[in-house]
Amino acid sequence: MNVSRRTLLASFAAAGAMAAAPAAFAADTPWSLGLENAPAEGFPEAAMRLVHGRAPAGLEGALYRNGPGWFRYGASATGHWFDGDGFIQRFAIADGRARHSARFADTPKRRIEQQRQAIIMPGFGTRGAPDAPADSADAMNAANTSVMMAGDELWALWEGGSPTRLDPNTLETHGVRPFREDLAGMPFLAHPKVEPNGRIWNLGVNGSRVVIWRLSANGVLEDAQVIDTGARSYIHDWAVTERHLIIPLQPWTIDRFVAPIVDSYTWRGDQPFRVLVLDKNDYSSRRMYELPAMFFFHTGDAWEENDGTIRFDLCVTPDAHFVTEEARNMINRHVEDGASAELVMAVLHADGRAELQRTRRLGEFPQTDRRRQGLARDLTAIVDDRGDNILGLMNWRTGAYESFAFGPHQMVQEHLFAAKPGRTGERDAWLIGVTLNARARATELHVFDVARVSDGPVATWRSRYMAPLGFHGTWAGA
Ligand SMILES: [Fe+2]
Repeated sequence: MNVSRRTLLASFAAAGAMAAAPAAFAADTPWSLGLENAPAEGFPEAAMRLVHGRAPAGLEGALYRNGPGWFRYGASATGHWFDGDGFIQRFAIADGRARHSARFADTPKRRIEQQRQAIIMPGFGTRGAPDAPADSADAMNAANTSVMMAGDELWALWEGGSPTRLDPNTLETHGVRPFREDLAGMPFLAHPKVEPNGRIWNLGVNGSRVVIWRLSANGVLEDAQVIDTGARSYIHDWAVTERHLIIPLQPWTIDRFVAPIVDSYTWRGDQPFRVLVLDKNDYSSRRMYELPAMFFFHTGDAWEENDGTIRFDLCVTPDAHFVTEEARNMINRHVEDGASAELVMAVLHADGRAELQRTRRLGEFPQTDRRRQGLARDLTAIVDDRGDNILGLMNWRTGAYESFAFGPHQMVQEHLFAAKPGRTGERDAWLIGVTLNARARATELHVFDVARVSDGPVATWRSRYMAPLGFHGTWAGA
């Protein structure tokens, strides 16, 4: 979830509002719109204007994105970027045209806060009102972190509670429905892993106890088991291979429960970053690896080589400063120039050794070809964090790095791989994503050809308005 400080600052610079960092910024900067309330009614479906190139033949489907879109009622504000209400955006591409629509997830949290016209529910970084009816995880569920397709449903994901089910066409909320009655309200991470055959794996985390969810491609529960990882680490993302579940256990651990939740965690830089590897067919078969202390939100994905070596890429920072301080201060429109995340490759050897391969490439929101979830691959796309607003593509096999700079007035968000119909190569795909164009004060949709990222987008469409920054999305090809 880490939109980089440098990226944000670059957008400020374009707005003429940047001072030496750290600095406080006026509420009316274009950047601040990325963390301002979206219209309560959302955005009705409207055509986007093609401003560059043309839609590639065969590109048909919808990009769905989710992220916090409502932060305050008057002076009553969330305490952290991660606590805004889920705002789901749909970018539909058909017949060479793009259309945009967006709606808030209609959650119990949003309903009661709209009724009271105040932020009252506790959250990840929000203390909440003493009389808030926070009697279950789903009462606090902001449904604001990601989205996934499961059968005919679109699920808005949070990490502390259940998926919220939406209509993928209208974005109307159908509410939460437990996978099984005795599992109601159990946590379900915002980073599920979908095997090439469609099977869905996910985790739900409560201290050292982790639910391992296994669902069919249609989202029907196949299995749910609780394991103990032996560590009370914050787990936001994880990875799978064909045979194994890879659970990184970073040294940011919950040792007590205080409000807000983010204050319950302690950074233990003297502790290693552990990685738990479980056999998909037998969770009692486990191995533990150790790497130096580091903090992460996101992995690219993992794969396993013939000799048993497991590789997974992730974006790491030296500590948890972003989540404990910076993402909290952003709500007050105060941006620090903190440490950027670096894309690294963790290598887990069959003999128990582990090592980290550094790239010196700074960035976040790593994305990979989802046709290859858990399988060997070459590529990882990142939102590059070099001070310009750049989409980057790392090739692990050759070491090559391609990139495209959008320019300082653009704030780049996650770009997703979308397969070209009937093609199977990793480069037979497009990268589809969104930027906030501060100069045009508009949200833009871009399509890149993965084979030629450095040439820039092959097509760009622009909305008449800016939508808030989002976190993650999914591409649903037609
Ligand atoms: Fe995330």
